[in-house]
Amino acid sequence: MGESQIRIEDMNYFQLLAWLGIGSSHPGGFPATRRNLDLLKVKREEYVLDAGCGSGLTACYLAKTVGCRVMGIDIMPEMVEKARQRAERENVSDLVEFKVADVTNLPFPRGSFDLAMAESVTVFLDKVKVYRQFYRVLKPGGRLADLEMSVVNELSPQLQDELHFVYGKGTDPLTFQGWVDALKEAGFEYTGILNAQANKINSGLLLQELKKDWIFVKDLAQKVSEQPGILHRLQNNAGFMRKNQGYFCYGLITGRKPLGSKLNLIERVKRSLLG
Ligand SMILES: C[S@@+](CC[C@H](N)C(=O)[O-])C[C@H]1O[C@@H](n2cnc3c(N)ncnc32)[C@H](O)[C@@H]1O
Repeated sequence: MGESQIRIEDMNYFQLLAWLGIGSSHPGGFPATRRNLDLLKVKREEYVLDAGCGSGLTACYLAKTVGCRVMGIDIMPEMVEKARQRAERENVSDLVEFKVADVTNLPFPRGSFDLAMAESVTVFLDKVKVYRQFYRVLKPGGRLADLEMSVVNELSPQLQDELHFVYGKGTDPLTFQGWVDALKEAGFEYTGILNAQANKINSGLLLQELKKDWIFVKDLAQKVSEQPGILHRLQNNAGFMRKNQGYFCYGLITGRKPLGSKLNLIERVKRSLLG
């Protein structure tokens, strides 16, 4: 283990993902991404923000298949570095750019993007704060598409503790209605929850997809030999979801920034102060 390497037991969930460089760590994995993008029908001339892009699998796929420009941001520098390597290797560096940035304080001017998307990011953060940022950086008429874990019913305090142990303290999946309320509170028009699914874990399919992700696979053997505790940690995480899958579901929460701003002056001042 390198001297600067944190022990696996001490890594928080984001550090773990960044160290592994997993390309599709969201409910439903990459098959869900493909299904969602099929419905979103992104156009070549659109400019897309992928917020909390991880190692850039979705951003690069979008650039390759649609030919649109994509800006991927993530708070973990290690992830952004891996995403840049992916874009280089997949020959889409001219279309995709990656930056280290915080989704709760996006470094882009108002009205920059046609589509703001996220996959399993908002669930860990203050939802309305994130959606207000998306609202600000979208053009009027711009779309929001957020693939997130949801709960079928409120979780018991014990299940919530277990969830926090696996994914970190701030993890707070809402009901579908809760997601819709957050989106509306940020100023969006609600346009639907697409591809809503029960959270059925298909380990075989997910494993197949992971094996195709060269960023994840390339140093995996070395990582396991450096930190064998990784296997136990991954099994624990998967075990939690398998045991409790009946409590969770997921879907693509979608909204649109209204063409004409209906916000009154007081509301606009409040939003610019809140960011
Ligand atoms: C569960 S992963 C999902 C990554 C990617 N969207 C995917 O589906 O594979 C959550 C990602 O959000 C990033 N993240 C967490 N908090 C963030 C923040 N405040 N701003 C930007 N990215 C953040 C993490 O570093 C991590 O890459």
